[in-house]
Amino acid sequence: MAIQFTLNGEPRSVEADPEKPLLWVLREDLAMPGTKFGCGAGLCGACTVHLDGSAIRSCLTPVSAAEGMAVTTIEGVAKGAVGRAVAQAWTELDVPQCGYCQAGQIMSAVALLAQTPRPSDADIDAAMAGNLCRCSTYVRIRAAIRKAAG
Ligand code: FES
Repeated sequence: MAIQFTLNGEPRSVEADPEKPLLWVLREDLAMPGTKFGCGAGLCGACTVHLDGSAIRSCLTPVSAAEGMAVTTIEGVAKGAVGRAVAQAWTELDVPQCGYCQAGQIMSAVALLAQTPRPSDADIDAAMAGNLCRCSTYVRIRAAIRKAAG
């Protein structure tokens, strides 16, 4: 079945089982490996992408849910002003350690700042609670979000 959506601003059509998780369509069918597989159960946030601007877990989202919508991944998020600000803050504060979870962290941070440009600490904690980091870069992640918020 052909499923159509925009991916990082470009119209795309992909032949896939409609139940196939968006994560695997991105990685296997659309050559977008920046979105990571962690748990496959919605628990770690490594697979976070945006669907019409909202942060979603692509490991649990069937590709059919993206029909007609705008999908944004880490490969395209810096096309937007908020994504650029977050990416710059991440670089300046040298946030990643091993880096595996960071695409998901950035996608959640961008979705937060797009909706709430001046988040409180509680807003940041609530938005980022579902993104786990085994290296415990949480302090730098929160500092980078505050920096990107200006
Ligand atoms: Fe999707 Fe962990 S891989 S939440």
